[in-house]
Amino acid sequence: MSTQQALDGRVAIVTGASRGIGAATARALSSAGAAVVLAARDADALHALAAEIEATRHERLRVVAGDALDRATIDVVLPGHTAVLSALGATTRARTTIYSRGTANLCRSMTAAGVRRLVCLSFGALDSGAGTPAAQRLVTRLIIRPPHRHAYADMRRMEDELAADDRVDWTVVRAPMLTNGPHTGAYRFTHDGDRPLDRPTQISRADLADFVLGHLDDHALFRRRVSLSY
Ligand SMILES: NC(=O)c1ccc[n+]([C@@H]2O[C@H](COP(=O)([O-])OP(=O)(O)OC[C@H]3O[C@@H](n4cnc5c(N)ncnc54)[C@H](OP(=O)(O)O)[C@@H]3O)[C@@H](O)[C@H]2O)c1
Repeated sequence: MSTQQALDGRVAIVTGASRGIGAATARALSSAGAAVVLAARDADALHALAAEIEATRHERLRVVAGDALDRATIDVVLPGHTAVLSALGATTRARTTIYSRGTANLCRSMTAAGVRRLVCLSFGALDSGAGTPAAQRLVTRLIIRPPHRHAYADMRRMEDELAADDRVDWTVVRAPMLTNGPHTGAYRFTHDGDRPLDRPTQISRADLADFVLGHLDDHALFRRRVSLSY
């Protein structure tokens, strides 16, 4: 069965859809036949994306502008949805709760609406468990993490809270550096329990979206943290 057939009739909500990986995934979901709700705060960016998708693909789109830290934003659209993709991201390097509180709001709203499937994004730089090569651990600790320490701390909270939540079939996708490169479909991934990826480099937003679509119904990745990279 093609991805197009698999997603026809599905309804997905993408939070953080105004740009970046959220917008890339919304394009890919729409292209694969799903009806998509685009959510973020920047209404103009959401309407521009909706117009772009409608011009080239299909019309089953809805825009919901609002703050993910306000649970009411999501409550109004969730009934009837089959999956949620959260690409929420901190917009400054200051302390943030967008990952933990934003995701907790999503989980509460999903549970109330009977929606179970959630895919959300996190950082590959959180991968430094046993088995990670020493040089990779050092680069991550000394160079990659410090400027983004507040975002990492809140992503860690988000991941810990998800791990304790059995109401949602979540998958956390830990991404390395994201690029605007083309879709290739050629990348590696592992999940917790496997040996960590050796020397993760980067991945395009188009390939990350490809991964999300391809694994929306992959039960083997429910309640798993996945790392992927070229
Ligand atoms: N960029 C990278 O290299 C990289 C690498 C690994 C992981 N990641 C992670 O991947 C995710 C997406 O990355 P990206 O580069 O696509 O991020 P991005 O371009 O900064 O997009 C973040 C999205 O979150 C939305 N958002 C932020 N605060 C919000 C709020 N309070 N309410 C509703 N929406 C809110 C933004 O929309 P509005 O501002 O319109 O609300 C935007 O659509 C993030 O979790 C990021 O931390 C990024």
